[in-house]
Amino acid sequence: MTFKKDFIWGAAAASYQIEGAHDEDGKGMSIWDNFTEKENAVYQGHTGQTACDHYHRYKEDVALMKQVGLQAYRFSISWPRVMPEGIGAINTKGIDFYNRLVDELLAKDIMPFPTLFHWDYPYELYLKGGWLNPDSPKWFAEYTAAVVDRLSDRVGNWFTINEPQVIVGLGHCTGIHAPGLQLQKRELVHVTHNILRSHGAAVETIRARSILPSKAGIAPVCPVAIPVDNGQQNIEAAGAAMFNVTDKDLFTGWSNRWWLDPIFKGEYPEDGLKLAARYLPANFQDHMKSISAPTDFLGNNHYEGIYVSADKDGTTRIHPPKEGEPLTGFNWRVTPEGLYWGPRFLYERYNKPIIITENGLSNKDWVALDGKVHDPQRIDFTQRYLREFQRAAADGVDAAGYFHWSIMDNFEWAFGYKERFGLIHVDFQTQKRTLKDSACWYSDVIKSNGKNL
Ligand code: FCB
Repeated sequence: MTFKKDFIWGAAAASYQIEGAHDEDGKGMSIWDNFTEKENAVYQGHTGQTACDHYHRYKEDVALMKQVGLQAYRFSISWPRVMPEGIGAINTKGIDFYNRLVDELLAKDIMPFPTLFHWDYPYELYLKGGWLNPDSPKWFAEYTAAVVDRLSDRVGNWFTINEPQVIVGLGHCTGIHAPGLQLQKRELVHVTHNILRSHGAAVETIRARSILPSKAGIAPVCPVAIPVDNGQQNIEAAGAAMFNVTDKDLFTGWSNRWWLDPIFKGEYPEDGLKLAARYLPANFQDHMKSISAPTDFLGNNHYEGIYVSADKDGTTRIHPPKEGEPLTGFNWRVTPEGLYWGPRFLYERYNKPIIITENGLSNKDWVALDGKVHDPQRIDFTQRYLREFQRAAADGVDAAGYFHWSIMDNFEWAFGYKERFGLIHVDFQTQKRTLKDSACWYSDVIKSNGKNL
């Protein structure tokens, strides 16, 4: 079987992880430029100052994307590169980089799918309170307008925000990501609410200002619960594990419904309000219409899921990893059925076309004596996950696209250059790029629209 005719095949990356040029051409500082200066915050003190030097090598990189046969490329725009202070003056040289990148992609027949925000928040706005500030949605809308005004004559597809769960959970709760905060419940709820408002404000701005007809959506990472088998009670237990709002998930940023019900249903879930209504701003209801501005698709980053079943007394059991179970370089579990159940549960509840905005694994890749990079694990992993996504499509899920994470090895946040996620190997000493075996395999998958999976 193949995916549907207009299925989108792509790969993804993000500005701070690949661009480098951290202080070139008038770019402002981001919270990641600041965070990487903190001792022991990032593996071996690595930074994104140079990263893949994509800012200078984007032409070579787009040529490689073409060689892989990508139909679409999901990249992110660095807010402080475009607006060094986050609001106010626009840095023409900064936006010009994205103009050149978009032109280069289009010249090679690759559709640009920018994400407006993938974590490199302007440091100047952080000093004003960042996502805690009730003006933060207004700031995000101003930045969105600046980008949309300059790119939407050529760009028609937009993701607003990448993984809001991680922004809250790792950036503002545990503090292992920039800005490295450990906030209280009330503040975490405010951060979440302001991010939701920012997403809505961005969608409205895209609709109001886009030159081309626009499609827009968000790119969350949704924890997926996989039933251990097809027993009806186990399926129900998995659905409940995915969608029940618990104290732990809500305040640490990981509750699926606390994020997605506001966006797709225009209301916070009742069970969540019981836990958190007292922390929300008094006028939160006034914001729900904008937060739920209609979108065109639901992006979804997926790496690993958990297995659950229903116990006899009706409680949900979470199954720990089995002895010797396969693990990726990151020690993440290999759970291909997540790409069946995640899309299925999300589609059943929210009824939007699903685009997998990230999926992949880190692997211990290096250039072999024959000059090639052999990564059979990446091929096997991706094949298993894509087969499951195809099965979801066969069972009625509107499977609209797939972006592999990542197009190339890059700066993996707190893990620096230790984790390699790319289809393309990058030698960070020389900046030499080498297509991995998986890139050639992926190329064939794209050509066959998934028939050869
Ligand atoms: C996701 C991020 C992405 C990358 C992958 C491995 O959480 O969105 O930037 O780090 O994980």
